[in-house]
Amino acid sequence: MGQLSNRSKREQEIYDIGLDRQIWKKFFRNQGHFENQRRLEIFRKFLDVENREVLEIGGSMSKAYVYDNSNKKHSVTCINISDKELAESKRDYSRSQQPLFIQMDAHKLDFDDSSFDMVFGFGMLHHLDYEKTLFEVNRVLKPGGIAIFKEPLDENPVAQLVRFLTPKARTHDEIPFRRHDLEKIKDIFSNVELQFDQLLTFPIALISGLFIRDKDTKFIKVGFNMDNLISRYLPFLRRYFRQVTIVIKKEAE
Ligand SMILES: C[S@@+](CC[C@H](N)C(=O)[O-])C[C@H]1O[C@@H](n2cnc3c(N)ncnc32)[C@H](O)[C@@H]1O
Repeated sequence: MGQLSNRSKREQEIYDIGLDRQIWKKFFRNQGHFENQRRLEIFRKFLDVENREVLEIGGSMSKAYVYDNSNKKHSVTCINISDKELAESKRDYSRSQQPLFIQMDAHKLDFDDSSFDMVFGFGMLHHLDYEKTLFEVNRVLKPGGIAIFKEPLDENPVAQLVRFLTPKARTHDEIPFRRHDLEKIKDIFSNVELQFDQLLTFPIALISGLFIRDKDTKFIKVGFNMDNLISRYLPFLRRYFRQVTIVIKKEAE
C-alpha cells in the first residue's frame, strides 16, 4: 500500500480494533429508510446496463446497493484501509456475488485512469483528506461516470448532542462536513448535485426507534416529505440538516 499518512494510519488502527457502535446502532435503527430508497433509485438506473465497473471505497454496502439492486452482471471492487473491516464485509456476501476486496488507501487509488463507471462511498469522505480522495476518484472515473457519497453535516443540533454523548462511536479524525466543504466540492467538479436529508426525520426516527422496529412508518414518511419541502423552499435551513448525499457526474468526452 506504500507509505500511509498519519491520519490513514490512525484510521486503520482504530478500525482494525473496531468502534463501539452498539448503542449507536440501536438508536439509529429507523434512520434513513426513505432517503435510502431515493439513493437506490440512482443506483438502479445507472446499473440497468450490463457490465458496469463499480468501486466502493471504505465500505461494505455493495451488497445492498449493487448486487441486490440490479439483475445485470457487474464487476465490483471494494477497498478499505482496514483488514478487519474487509474481513467483516466479506461475510455479508454469497459465494456467487463476491466483490474483489483489496486493502487500499483511498487517498492513493492503485487503479489506472478511467477504470470505473461508478464510484461510491458512505460515511467515509469525512474521515479523510476528502479533496485528495476526490481528485483520485475523478481520475479513476470514466468520462460519463458517476460518483455518489453520503456524508454527515456538522450543524444539526440533535446530531451534535448525539456526537457529544457517544464519543466512542467515532474516530479522532472524522470531521462532519461544513458548508465550505460543500462549496469546495462544487468548485472542484462542474456537475454536482446535493441532496439534504434528516432535519425533522432525524429526531422523529430517533424517538420512534426507541419503541418500534419499523422504518417504514407514516410518521417518518411525513417527516421525510416535510424535509424535502424545507430543503427546496427554505434553502438557508439546509445547513441544519444532518446528512448530505453528493452526486458527481463526470462529463462525457
Ligand atoms: C464510518 S465507516 C463507514 C463504513 C461503511 N461505508 C458504512 O457506511 O457503514 C468509515 C470507513 O472508512 C474506512 N477508511 C478510513 N480511512 C480510510 C482510507 N484512508 N482509505 C480507505 N478506507 C478508509 C474505515 O476503515 C471504515 O470502514
